[in-house]
Amino acid sequence: MPNIFDYAEKTLHHSHCEELLALTHEAQRLAMNGELNFESLNSVRPIEKVYFPEHPILLPPRDMPKRKFTTAAGLAAFFHAIAHVEFVAIYLAWDIIYRFRDLPEEFYRDWLRVADEEAQHFSLLRGRLQKSDIDYGDLPAHSGLWDLAQHTSNDILIRLALVPRNMEAHGLDVAPPLIEKFKQIGDDDAVAILTRILNDEVGHVAMGSKWFNQLCEEKGLNAERYYQTLLLAYYDEKGGHLKANFNRELRRSAGFSESELTWLAAHSH
Ligand SMILES: [Fe+2]
Ligand SMILES: [Fe+2]
Repeated sequence: MPNIFDYAEKTLHHSHCEELLALTHEAQRLAMNGELNFESLNSVRPIEKVYFPEHPILLPPRDMPKRKFTTAAGLAAFFHAIAHVEFVAIYLAWDIIYRFRDLPEEFYRDWLRVADEEAQHFSLLRGRLQKSDIDYGDLPAHSGLWDLAQHTSNDILIRLALVPRNMEAHGLDVAPPLIEKFKQIGDDDAVAILTRILNDEVGHVAMGSKWFNQLCEEKGLNAERYYQTLLLAYYDEKGGHLKANFNRELRRSAGFSESELTWLAAHSH
């Protein structure tokens, strides 16, 4: 029977864009049909071995082109940038499966579903880009998105706290005003795509909350306090800070408690 960790190894190390999407959908289909094995048989290669396609070329954020919605080029740059976020999100979902072993089968099923949804998000955005005769890879992309994966590659609780419960959770804060902007300019297609993605992303963050809380409990840790410790340690080490304007309603749906939201509000600016 095909094995989920073989799929994870392939998607993270050998694939090109089309292959990545096909393998992801295939693995999810097998899992749904009860035809995927979840036993950890292969060994884990270091995160430095993860392979990304040659295109897009990756640039530091300060070198990225400006994204103004008022021009066709600006809109294309915007959709290319978020297509890249979704592309890296497929990798992030596969990486949490690949790197952290000996967890319940449900954990792997959950994140495989996330990988499958990220692949759908990517395809929706790529389709939108192709309408303006641009394909994913034609423009440069932000180089920083994978840094967090590398920073969190040794510890599942740090990964869950910083990737789904901070980076993806931040997406829940910034997406609604963006959708509003597209409503104002009458771009119904963009509104439909971004709304669909946002709904799924609430589920991804909720998945992060579910597993962070459950694994903390198993280790006898107080999940709320430990989450705060990890976030503060991260910003202490890396600089930067928690950004204000949390979308309390969406974060609540994604498993943030009232006391966590109050703490976050007090520690952001
Ligand atoms: Fe996504
Ligand atoms: Fe996601």
